[in-house]
Amino acid sequence: MLQNFWYACEFSHAVTDQPKQIELWNQKIVLYRDVSGSVVALKDVCPHRGAALSLGKVEGNCIQCPYHGWKFQPDGACTTIPSNPLHVPIPRKAKIPVYSVQEKYGFIWLFWGDLSIENQPPLPTMPDFSDPAFRTIYVERKANAHYSRVIENLIDPVHAAFLHANSFGGGIAKALPSITKAKVVMDDFGASLSVDVPQPVSRFWKLVYGEKKRTTNISLRFCLPNVTFFSVDSHFRMRQSYAVIPVNDNTTIIKTIYSRTLFNFPWADGFIRKITIQTFLEDKPTLESQRPSVVPNDLAAEIHVAGDAMTVAYRKLRKKSMEMKYAVESSSFSTQHLMESVSTSE
Ligand code: FES
Ligand code: CO
Repeated sequence: MLQNFWYACEFSHAVTDQPKQIELWNQKIVLYRDVSGSVVALKDVCPHRGAALSLGKVEGNCIQCPYHGWKFQPDGACTTIPSNPLHVPIPRKAKIPVYSVQEKYGFIWLFWGDLSIENQPPLPTMPDFSDPAFRTIYVERKANAHYSRVIENLIDPVHAAFLHANSFGGGIAKALPSITKAKVVMDDFGASLSVDVPQPVSRFWKLVYGEKKRTTNISLRFCLPNVTFFSVDSHFRMRQSYAVIPVNDNTTIIKTIYSRTLFNFPWADGFIRKITIQTFLEDKPTLESQRPSVVPNDLAAEIHVAGDAMTVAYRKLRKKSMEMKYAVESSSFSTQHLMESVSTSE
């Protein structure tokens, strides 16, 4: 896994003053908003008898365990123990590991690793995010596949011409020569590909704009560790931002913020959602069939052609990040460092 990165892990609007459990890298985490509206992220395990705090309730800034009513504040410290009538001081060990969170661009971002590292990888930028011209829907899907394979699927422009040939892939097939020639631009933590195609790229858009030749720019981008973007700029604009959430080694949840200036009316939301889910259902069996299930680190392990430039860029950056001293691959990563920081702050 990629450690010491900010992971997009939930839609911002999904976090309220009701506890919400999420799961990242096999770790259950409870999210809620405190009185000031800030998002709190705690390990979702009560240190008393191990119950899930997310089954309890939020009271003011604190979350209360459903089992014996212990309350914990946003820094993880226990403030109240109802079954302690002798008023013995609260045990100092009664603390829950806390995760650092940021809220930006419609997502909650959670830092997975050691926050004290230098050269912290930044959040990706999403420049058009708050443009009022867009109408936005939020779509969630789940696959029994490793998130690295899902990321590659989302940044792979050429599979659409084949796997999605009967839905929207026909237009992509015509654009294949331009796509395979397009240059991939890489930076330290991501890459992008932008290509002008001479006509609307799907039957859907042709229906709207007719057969007239127009230039449409499509662009794909990914940022480590787990977000990808797809955008279209034509007579309309479309932006899709994907959080590809590694729940565990074999489960990935994909949360998409889908914004468009085309059909930007409420009545079209259901239709667009249906297309998005249909597209995913076309991808899902293939994603779940891939072996090895994790994208190989060794570039020579699979075969690459011109159309694979984006996924090759992903493999290179992923490997580089794993080799960096502050981003190591380890399947045994635990919240040990969090425990340590909790005990040293006592
Ligand atoms: Fe949480 Fe007892 S298990 S208060
Ligand atoms: Co696809």
